[in-house]
Amino acid sequence: MAVLDALSTGDQVVEAFKSQVKGRTFVITGAGMPSIGSQMAISLARASPAHILIASRTGRKVDPVLEKIAEIDSSVKTTFVQVDLTDHESVRRAAKEILAATPKIDVLINSAGNMGIKDYTVDKQGIEIQLSANHIGHFLLTNLLAPALIAAGSQPGGARVVNLTSLGYRSSRFRFDDWNFSNGKTYDLWTGYAQAKTANILFSFGLTKKLKSHGVTSTAAHPGSNIDTQLGSHLTVDDYAKIPEVMQRNMGKEWEWETPRFKTFDQISSTSLAAALDPEIPAKSPAYMVNCQPHEVDEHARDPEAVEKLWKLSEELVGQKFDY
Ligand SMILES: NC(=O)c1ccc[n+]([C@@H]2O[C@H](COP(=O)([O-])OP(=O)(O)OC[C@H]3O[C@@H](n4cnc5c(N)ncnc54)[C@H](OP(=O)(O)O)[C@@H]3O)[C@@H](O)[C@H]2O)c1
Repeated sequence: MAVLDALSTGDQVVEAFKSQVKGRTFVITGAGMPSIGSQMAISLARASPAHILIASRTGRKVDPVLEKIAEIDSSVKTTFVQVDLTDHESVRRAAKEILAATPKIDVLINSAGNMGIKDYTVDKQGIEIQLSANHIGHFLLTNLLAPALIAAGSQPGGARVVNLTSLGYRSSRFRFDDWNFSNGKTYDLWTGYAQAKTANILFSFGLTKKLKSHGVTSTAAHPGSNIDTQLGSHLTVDDYAKIPEVMQRNMGKEWEWETPRFKTFDQISSTSLAAALDPEIPAKSPAYMVNCQPHEVDEHARDPEAVEKLWKLSEELVGQKFDY
């Protein structure tokens, strides 16, 4: 088998690991068309999964994804569950609907997210909206779905949770002393995104620590950069040009763009699919993945004390404890 790398496409990853897809159940958050989530769902449909459940905000954007899956293989069961990850009542209702639709989840891929929100914005609960949509909503959803992940965890290969992160995590540690930006006074859009994306990696480390004995492991995947999805559609080239100064201010380090600077829409789902399917990954988890392979991760996103502190803060913010 060819080594999977920066140029691999989502379809190639699924083809390489098709035995890991056949008969399995996948939950993907944030899969409106066009998004990384939609690409993953469509690629997975080519290898006979039993069930693909999509939990996303806007049903009409998911309809074309469900249609495409039916066109590829009408025997694949699909379920759409509406959810707003920034509203904890909505997350609790969605989790109930997902658990009613499937007793076991082999792979949960947390792909929903937002990025570079220019004006300081809070969710219904008062939490900064990038931390809310990227991490806190997924923290609650994942833990509520844990019984179904644990049910799959005892089977060969175990169960996996993939959290979509970003290279942008490098430009801020998690701000435990000011995670909500002093009600906006200390906010900037890129620090907000970086904090949320650091949280995605810390959460993968926390989940693996707490659930590995139940056969559930987690990785954080940086997909690369692509401009066909909706994530940065409100941003300009000048907005992105501010990232290096944010990195310098927060971390005292030089920012480095990656190579390749951009991936195609066909390539942008490959790393998270490799995290979900490569049989070698559970033994290497928790891991941070780039270009379809495990990659070293900066200390601030794997520090065991930060992992534990984030778990506790997240429990406080959702008003529920999760012990395994
Ligand atoms: N694209 C990139 O270049 C890139 C680079 C690095 C990391 N990432 C990461 O990859 C992930 C996916 O990005 P993407 O490019 O696919 O973004 P996208 O095109 O904006 O898609 C995001 C999806 O998440 C859904 N979503 C957003 N907020 C939600 C909420 N509050 N509740 C439920 N669903 C919500 C959106 O729903 P709607 O359909 O309602 O809008 C959409 O379907 C994100 O975690 C992002 O940080 C992306």
